[in-house]
Amino acid sequence: MSQTFDIAVIGAGPGGYIAAIRAAQLGYRVACIDAWTNASGGPAPGGTCTNVGCIPSKALLQSSEHFEHARLHFADHGIATGTVKIDVPTMVARKDAIVKQNNDGILYLFKKNKVTFLHGRGSFVRALDGGYELAVEGAQNTTLQARHVIVATGSRARALPGVAFDEERILSNDGALRLQAVPKKLAIIGAGVIGLEMGSVWRRLGAEVTILEGLPTFLAAADEQIAKEAKKAFDKQGLKIELGVKVGEVKTHKRGVTIAYTDAQGQGQTLEAERLIVSIGRVPNTEGLGADKVGLKLDERGAIVVDALCRTNLPGVWAVGDVVRGPMLAHKAEEEGVAVAERIAGQHPHVDFNTIPWVIYTSPEVAWVGATEQQLKASGRAYKVGTFPFMANGRARALGDTTGMVKILADAATDQVLGVHMVGPLVSELIAEAVMAMEFKASAEDIARICHAHPSLSEATKEAALAVDKRPLNF
Ligand code: FAD
Ligand code: NAI
Repeated sequence: MSQTFDIAVIGAGPGGYIAAIRAAQLGYRVACIDAWTNASGGPAPGGTCTNVGCIPSKALLQSSEHFEHARLHFADHGIATGTVKIDVPTMVARKDAIVKQNNDGILYLFKKNKVTFLHGRGSFVRALDGGYELAVEGAQNTTLQARHVIVATGSRARALPGVAFDEERILSNDGALRLQAVPKKLAIIGAGVIGLEMGSVWRRLGAEVTILEGLPTFLAAADEQIAKEAKKAFDKQGLKIELGVKVGEVKTHKRGVTIAYTDAQGQGQTLEAERLIVSIGRVPNTEGLGADKVGLKLDERGAIVVDALCRTNLPGVWAVGDVVRGPMLAHKAEEEGVAVAERIAGQHPHVDFNTIPWVIYTSPEVAWVGATEQQLKASGRAYKVGTFPFMANGRARALGDTTGMVKILADAATDQVLGVHMVGPLVSELIAEAVMAMEFKASAEDIARICHAHPSLSEATKEAALAVDKRPLNF
């Protein structure tokens, strides 16, 4: 018999599972449907983020960073290790165990919050009077009815035209996180977030990594000065990044992959590699969702069309996360999920797209929030800049990592913080202060007058804020 719910959520990635929990907290009867299946055939809620995204990539970044530190930097501290070796299967097994902990954690949270979890593929069957009928196919075959539906089906890796992922030679993020040995030569197409993070992992472990990027500028979305600083560091590490290339034919063979491309000077080139990671962006998951059965509007990319409040063209149908417009980030998906649950409950939450932070977990890390300097220039807004290098920060020196800087952009007249850009150690953590400052419409002076612990990396943020007013104390 078909079950009835107030709210059905399709997808248990960070957008969906968080929406389901918040809706249950608000007193609704909630079902969450997710198709992800682990190697033993069981459910693996958490979506791309938990299974093949944020969490496993950070696990491998941590392991590979330890390896690099042990190999190259421990000696500076007087620690002798002898020859350091990496056991890739153990590293990958550790990553898998962390993923499993997260999957289990979400199942526990569903139970705790009385969310009904259905393992299978969900799709629209038809619109009802005041709701929708959905089908679930997979481990559990059933139908259900719900007054509201939140679609949070996420995204998947975009393939190069005519070059399908085989996860053997041509890898998406999935295969890139499952390699059982370090490839001698690794090619990556796309110097975006995945290209840089995965490139860093396998370079640290000993692969010769070449990244081919189509755009002539490196990390075009980041502040130019910060991107330049990051590029300098990656070059020094031996991460080879070729900009402005046009990728041609990609052929697989027994020993690997051959990639033909035209370089920035218009010269034809070939790159031989054992494996190729294609990280050229992601496409929304709307195939098989039954959008046509109910008239759910999609755009030309297949993304669900929503307004600023995540409302689709259908009454009672909402969509959040990677399957809609905006940055494909887990925390953006979560904020939208919470906001939708609260809107269904008649509340008026607000998600400020201008204060969604970006973090790239390479070494140095790159993080930013708000406008870049090039965006402010283009908009004609008068601004002031304050920068502070980690070179002049005591904690960074003690850590042995003084690469990079903090940069604050503030309105020339009001001093309001408009953007904060960082490259350096642990800036993934430092950026939270900048997000809070921007959410509270703080001025640079506000940050400058806050007492920051000494010695800490966060003092670089305070000093950058002081530098906006040309009065840094330690530089
Ligand atoms: P997803 O996480 O993709 O979840 C969607 C879920 O819906 C999946 O479980 C899918 O199986 C399921 N599903 C799809 N269709 C159906 C259906 N019809 N029925 C039932 N279930 C269905 N973001 C960050 O913020 N920080 C990071 O460090 C970060 N690292 C990343 C690293 C990598 C390698 C990748 C690939 C991505 C990374 N991201 C990161 C992006 C982040 O993973 C996504 O933005 C986030 O997962 C989007 O959440 P979502 O809930 O919208 O979708
Ligand atoms: P991306 O959008 O970050 O980067 C793709 C890159 O590929 C761009 O630089 C683009 O110019 C380039 N490109 C596109 N087509 C190309 C072609 N044919 N030839 C050569 N270059 C080409 O996408 P990516 O790295 O695949 O990641 C997808 C998304 O996942 C990210 O945008 C981000 O939203 C999310 N993500 C977030 C992470 C984080 O927050 N730390 C980590 C990893 C992924």
